[in-house]
Amino acid sequence: MERKLHVDLQENSYDIFIEKGILSLLGEKIKSIYNGEKIFVLTDKNVNKHYGNKLKKSLEKAGFMTKFMVLEPGEATKSFNTLPSIYDELLDFKITRKDLIITLGGGVIGDLGGFAAASFLRGVPFIQVPTSIVAQVDSSVGGKVAVDLERGKNLVGSFYQPKAVYIDAEVLNTLSDKFYKDGMGEVIKYGCIKDREFFYKLKSLKNRAQVMDNIEEIIYNCCLIKKIVVEIDERDLGERMLLNFGHTLGHAVEKYYNFTGYSHGEAVGIGMYNITLKSENEGLTKKGVAQEIKEILINYGLPYEVDIENNDIILDTIALDKKNMGKVLKIIVIKDIGESIIYDTIPEFFKGVK
Ligand code: GLY
Repeated sequence: MERKLHVDLQENSYDIFIEKGILSLLGEKIKSIYNGEKIFVLTDKNVNKHYGNKLKKSLEKAGFMTKFMVLEPGEATKSFNTLPSIYDELLDFKITRKDLIITLGGGVIGDLGGFAAASFLRGVPFIQVPTSIVAQVDSSVGGKVAVDLERGKNLVGSFYQPKAVYIDAEVLNTLSDKFYKDGMGEVIKYGCIKDREFFYKLKSLKNRAQVMDNIEEIIYNCCLIKKIVVEIDERDLGERMLLNFGHTLGHAVEKYYNFTGYSHGEAVGIGMYNITLKSENEGLTKKGVAQEIKEILINYGLPYEVDIENNDIILDTIALDKKNMGKVLKIIVIKDIGESIIYDTIPEFFKGVK
């Protein structure tokens, strides 16, 4: 069954299509939104091994001329330094502003390819085909594209909306358990910030098999929440910040372990639980909410605490966070499951929190 969502951003509006098996149908589907001839596909070695041929066949059967660029998997690829090689390939393939780029992969490929699309010739249209849970429920929707600098992640980027997002949940079958859990951290976040019923639905699912039985509905629900938030605040100046629940502390935890200890989703889980413990103690959150979060994280095999001796390092990282606006640190707290607010504080709020 095809599920469809429309992201309404005036001239930058687009549709999100969610359907198992859609990858093999993409050539025909794309014809309805693109009448050019050339398509440049950016992907990585892991994804290409499983799905490159499927996409290539589908695009070529529909009459498109394709060129695939296959990069190394992993965050290191999302470097600013990768861009010149992509621009070279785009030049060799003589891509113009009338042609199309497809990003086939997880968050790294989507963010990097999206930024290459945004910047090459001042903007070439692109389509997101996300293949990880994090990318399917979060990074492929909303137009945040970026690359990393040596001094930090996502420091160079843009808001550049795709022309469409095609989500095939079947590709998640080849996802390792590590990436499955990573994605579920972000999925749980949506329940925490906006949808109580969804939170308890997720809590009732016993294992990965049960999650996969409901996966299209789960993806749809997350994308629905995200599209509503992005429509209100495309440029991340207010409502969109709610998507950062658990992220301020989570990011500091990831950084503390040099991005090699906890995955992003795991760190977000740790962040969601610990900020909620704190906000409960401050009287901002209903008692018992942190326990609910702890229980769902345990259900999904996600960590909820870390043993960090030196909390000052965490405070320093938070003080440098780009979510800081002057002296004020905007953090997200939940009053109850499904009810989130932006709360103005200072980095010291996190003193003793880990
Ligand atoms: N991933 C958070 C956002 O798109 O704003």
